[in-house]
Amino acid sequence: MDHFLYRDGQLHAEDVPVADLAATHGTPFYLYSTATLLRHYRLFDEALSWGPHLVCYAMKAASNLAILKTLAAEGAGMDVVSGGEYARAKAAGVPGDRIVFSGVGKTREEIAQALEGGIRQFNVESEPELAVISELAAARNMEVPIAIRVNPDVDAKTHAKIATGKSENKFGIPIARAREVYAHAASLPGIKVTGIDVHIGSQLTDLEPFEMAYRKVADLTEQLRAEGHEITRLDLGGGLGIPYARDNNAPPLPTDYGALIQRTVGHLGCEIEIEPGRLIAGNAGILVSRVIYVKEGEGRDFLILDAAMNDLIRPAMYDAWHDIVPVKQPAPGVETRNYDIVGPVCESGDTFAKARPMPPLKAGDLVAFRSAGAYGAVMSSEYNSRPLVPEILAHGDQHAVIRARPSFEEMLSRDNIPEWL
Ligand code: LLP
Repeated sequence: MDHFLYRDGQLHAEDVPVADLAATHGTPFYLYSTATLLRHYRLFDEALSWGPHLVCYAMKAASNLAILKTLAAEGAGMDVVSGGEYARAKAAGVPGDRIVFSGVGKTREEIAQALEGGIRQFNVESEPELAVISELAAARNMEVPIAIRVNPDVDAKTHAKIATGKSENKFGIPIARAREVYAHAASLPGIKVTGIDVHIGSQLTDLEPFEMAYRKVADLTEQLRAEGHEITRLDLGGGLGIPYARDNNAPPLPTDYGALIQRTVGHLGCEIEIEPGRLIAGNAGILVSRVIYVKEGEGRDFLILDAAMNDLIRPAMYDAWHDIVPVKQPAPGVETRNYDIVGPVCESGDTFAKARPMPPLKAGDLVAFRSAGAYGAVMSSEYNSRPLVPEILAHGDQHAVIRARPSFEEMLSRDNIPEWL
């Protein structure tokens, strides 16, 4: 459920009419709903309320400081994967003991940054990384909690580019080698073996792969405990999918997911961490765009929008489906037409949808891409020298621009001309 609904014939974000924002701020822009973000976060928090837990929002999904602050104020932890994300978490007021650091290629600088700023745990992905964390923590006379990310060799049954839990993926340590690596970790200075980490992929629409992975983690917990390790935390990753198309079967709900976690690992008495990103932010954001032209093609009409692949890359990159709806509510029973919906960028890949049935639209009309809150703005670029689009946050009848649209001058001012030119 989200808070983008038609009211009086117009799409609203909570109580804010989307068309008013387009008139004031221009298009395209990303628009988020505070109530939806909070609702999704709370669903996870409640789904794990049967035991000690921390929901660590995977901020790679949408990392605007205002979004982070909204969630941090609710008590959310953060899952970060770079020094930049760590800096964002701290700037949003998240205490170090609520930040977990994931990622296969943490640099020495990033590890030092987190050790100095405070960290709940490193999710370690390799032995060389473990050696660096040990060296840098010991040099500071610290003992830092770690979880080792195990690769359970489970097929997440999602798009190949976002599956991470098969043995051929670059992530984690093969679960078969885990005991050996834990024994080594326990012998290292500066390291406090604390937990097990697993993340098998993103946009999972079925609980079964989670169940297989979590059962393996439960077995491993018991084996490691038998070998003398104190395993007190399980980080079960993110990945629960969202409905991208309104008429599709909905993926399992956070409540079902929480019950599955309780069933598979609840008996171990560990503190549970999860790292959801998409389910918190995805349906809490839309991308609003204007039709520049309607172009009649051979056997199809093109809706040429002012948003492009540089603003929302998911359709080009993962063949992702996003519902695209007119901002003005179509009259009931209006006959649809099929459009190819494209952006202005000079690549055929700049296609958002093919033969998409839509009510008849004309130049100047507004449309909204739904489910664009996660992996939308964060994956945008300035390709074709198109400035990054603004982000706006709605809250009841209020709204705020949380990232402004840069002017051309601002965009150009980041380039430097060498003195010999
Ligand atoms: N934890 C780790 C270690 C991750 O790698 C990810 C996502 C998450 C948590 C959050 O997963 P979520 O709950 O959002 O599924 N750009 C792609 C998605 C890439 C996901 C990368 N890792 C897309 O637009 O579909």
